Amino acid sequence: MTPRHLRLAAPLVALLLNAPALAFDLQAHRGGRGLAPENTLAAFAQAAALGVDTLELDVGLTADGVVVISHDTSLNPDHTRDAQGQWLSAKGPKIRSLTLEQLQRYDVGRLRPESDYGKQFARQKPVDGQRIPTLTALFDQVRALPGTALHLNIEIKVDPTLPDETASPEAVTDALLAEIERAGMAGRVTIQSFDWRTLARVAQRAPDIQRAYLSSARTLADSRWTAGLALASHGGSPAQLVKAAAGPSKKAVIWSPSFGPLTQAQVQEAHTLGLLVLPWTVNTRADMARLIDWGVDGIITDYPDLLRDVLRERGMPLPTGTEAVR
Ligand code: G3P
Ligand code: CA
Repeated sequence: MTPRHLRLAAPLVALLLNAPALAFDLQAHRGGRGLAPENTLAAFAQAAALGVDTLELDVGLTADGVVVISHDTSLNPDHTRDAQGQWLSAKGPKIRSLTLEQLQRYDVGRLRPESDYGKQFARQKPVDGQRIPTLTALFDQVRALPGTALHLNIEIKVDPTLPDETASPEAVTDALLAEIERAGMAGRVTIQSFDWRTLARVAQRAPDIQRAYLSSARTLADSRWTAGLALASHGGSPAQLVKAAAGPSKKAVIWSPSFGPLTQAQVQEAHTLGLLVLPWTVNTRADMARLIDWGVDGIITDYPDLLRDVLRERGMPLPTGTEAVR
């Protein structure tokens, strides 16, 4: 190819780089909490064995500055037992108030059966003894897996409406970036958050890391979540809001909306803007099928086994599980 050919091809290459990915991204929400205890090493291992493209997880920061994997910013009585094996009787201490050593005294390997959570996820198989893991431990586990290119979709759990609940968005983001850098995992992670201030910081400090802009009806209506940007100033279009928040990006930008209010027209608009669309948290066959028909780029689900069935029935490629590799 001559330099002239390269120049002529440049716009096409740029278009392709910005285009939605061709491969479908099967994401196990909290490691696939429909099947195994959420955000535990056991769940992540099980999802990897089954075969998913991406492990979805949530992170926070302990009192001694360790990045740990937890959806809740305080210990959740629905799936937490103390060192004596007793269920917490109410919401427990904040993650930010405990050291890693204190945090790891709690067992998060089983749902309290009579809780709403326990009833909702009756298929979940307990794994007693599971602790809230460090992100380092998950990185080590993932890197040790045979023959897989598993990706991690890491959600920064901070809440602009509850600033005392966690460490600051800056502190959590910086600790996470340092951890990713230390582990050499920048190419295998996406950082997602409802609090787009964290993503602005990622864009500034680690522009090579992919970002996913989470949204729900509640967060889109409150500019504290969207880094000060108002939906109304962007034609009421969430995709345009994401595009404006993300600015220029080296990696394809992801919009991760709550799947309920999502429309086909919104998916199309997002694609026109060069965004990838990855809705959460989709747990029924009918919803999965509808969203795949609309052309979403992946789905975040509590039931990766069900999503695999739906993809298989449609003749779509499936990620290889580590069980199949062994
Ligand atoms: O990936 C998005 C999804 O995980 C957001 O919901 O509350 O389960 O973290 P949540
Ligand atoms: Ca999450």
